[in-house]
Amino acid sequence: MTSTKKSNGLPQHIAIIMDGNGRWARARMLPRYVGHREGVKAVKTIVKACRNKGIRALTLFAFSSENWRRPRDEVGLLMDLFIRTLKKEVEALHQNGIRVRFIGDRYAFPKDLREQITQAEDKTRANTAMDLIIAANYGGQWDITEALRVIARRVASGEIKPEDITPDMINCEIALADLPAPDLFIRTGGEQRVSNFLLWQLAYTELYFTDVLWPAFNEHALDEALESFANRQRRFGRTGDQAEQLKGA
Ligand code: IPE
Ligand code: IPE
Ligand code: MG
Repeated sequence: MTSTKKSNGLPQHIAIIMDGNGRWARARMLPRYVGHREGVKAVKTIVKACRNKGIRALTLFAFSSENWRRPRDEVGLLMDLFIRTLKKEVEALHQNGIRVRFIGDRYAFPKDLREQITQAEDKTRANTAMDLIIAANYGGQWDITEALRVIARRVASGEIKPEDITPDMINCEIALADLPAPDLFIRTGGEQRVSNFLLWQLAYTELYFTDVLWPAFNEHALDEALESFANRQRRFGRTGDQAEQLKGA
């Protein structure tokens, strides 16, 4: 039986590894920092585009738990850029009904950045147009470890037994538990790896890799990713025919 593929429509939740800022700058004989600064412009474009398209949640990888390994200068410049960008953009995000949230270990950040993060989250908490999640000092392994710690405490206190632990229980403790799992993952910059981004949450996410460097990623590039997504058949372990039947149901 041949099944006609039906469109997936829009993803509810998109997760992006914004990679390639350094190479974008190097190609123009500019310092890496300029690439990061241009990367912020791409963030603004993509946030706006996703909101206008009606995407429910957008998760952006801004700084990984491994990015501390970069030269001190670059880390310092990135922190400054985060602080300045947040300060400058939070009002516009708020006006556009966007709820901002951070995932990752924020306690490693300088105090003024932590304050900006809290302020942005508090100010936008009641917004409903789109969730914007910034993964900063985030690592998928860290996330799973944190979830396991919470569960281990419950075991230690006698509240639950080890055999009571289920994937659903982990789902409840992991970052973004309140959101649908990402439907579409995008990585710009040409590398085809997950680099310790959302590990648990990407279990059934459609993966999309593009050579476009992040500062050059625009609405057209996003539309290409969305088109690729729309033409995928998501089977979740079932056969293709079953998947089509479920969709038609
Ligand atoms: C991504 O761009 C931004 C961060 C990791 C903060 P890169 O800085 O990794 O750019 P490339 O990969 O060196 O080109
Ligand atoms: C992943 O990019 C992290 C972010 C985009 C924030 P990296 O450039 O750090 O990834 P690797 O080191 O090439 O895997
Ligand atoms: Mg990189």
